[in-house]
Amino acid sequence: MANRLKIVRTVPSLRRALEPYRRARAHIALVPTMGALHRGHMALVSEARRRAKCVVVSIFVNPTQFAPHEDFASYPRNFATDLRVLREAKIDLVWAPSVEDMYPDGFATRVMPEGAAKVGLEDEFRPHFFGGVATVVAKLFTQVSPDFALFGQKDYQQLRVVTQMAKDLDMPVKVIGVPTVRESDGLALSSRNAYLSVAERAVAPMLHRVLKQCANRIKNGEKVDHVLNVGRIEIDLAGFVLDYLEARHALSLAPIESSKDGPIRLLVAAKLGKTRLIDNVAV
Ligand code: PAF
Repeated sequence: MANRLKIVRTVPSLRRALEPYRRARAHIALVPTMGALHRGHMALVSEARRRAKCVVVSIFVNPTQFAPHEDFASYPRNFATDLRVLREAKIDLVWAPSVEDMYPDGFATRVMPEGAAKVGLEDEFRPHFFGGVATVVAKLFTQVSPDFALFGQKDYQQLRVVTQMAKDLDMPVKVIGVPTVRESDGLALSSRNAYLSVAERAVAPMLHRVLKQCANRIKNGEKVDHVLNVGRIEIDLAGFVLDYLEARHALSLAPIESSKDGPIRLLVAAKLGKTRLIDNVAV
């Protein structure tokens, strides 16, 4: 079996490349990405390597999860650098289809998730997002047929939506959430951090600081509503435009009123200049 990085761009060549692993009954792990890889992605790759003989990284900037006014055109694309990093990490296969291969003329099917996808949060601000994510991830699961698929906990609602989709549609894949990788000042790694100016980059870790303070205060018995209201004001004063700061049930993402309704996850999304940042922590 190959120990040289293979790059495949069509479904038939993907199937051919995976065939030897299937014949050998080797486990396959998929790390779905949109490229512009950073240490957060590489943590997914390490976890994939721990679990499977064959690691596939998909690189596909998925147009259906961006609204027309969003950053699809300017989303960071560093394919050559990504390949170099993946080669060093000794992964087996890069699955990099074109938009035309993923969504050929006449493509007419969408997966529309409910449950965690319809409880507000990201869905309220990006209503197109989870339909696009679920559709492309369902396609990636069908194309690669992985035993394991690794997603970052940084996109916590996405992780819950994809986990539920795999369960509901009896997809034979174990979805695994990998803890968020952070800069030393707490900022969650994200390809979109590249958009931050120097001044914004200095303010950005505040989001995680507020999340942690809120989590500690809730753990210490303070009322959830009060703690979140203080957190919202702090985020506002730091110069963010807040989309949401909420406490949700960690699995269903249903709204919760008191810490007794937990386990609780705190989730936040806010804009700093033109950059939209999201983050979350467990309570
Ligand atoms: O998290 C991402 O990078 C994307 O939403 C994903 C899961 C690769 C689907 O396009």
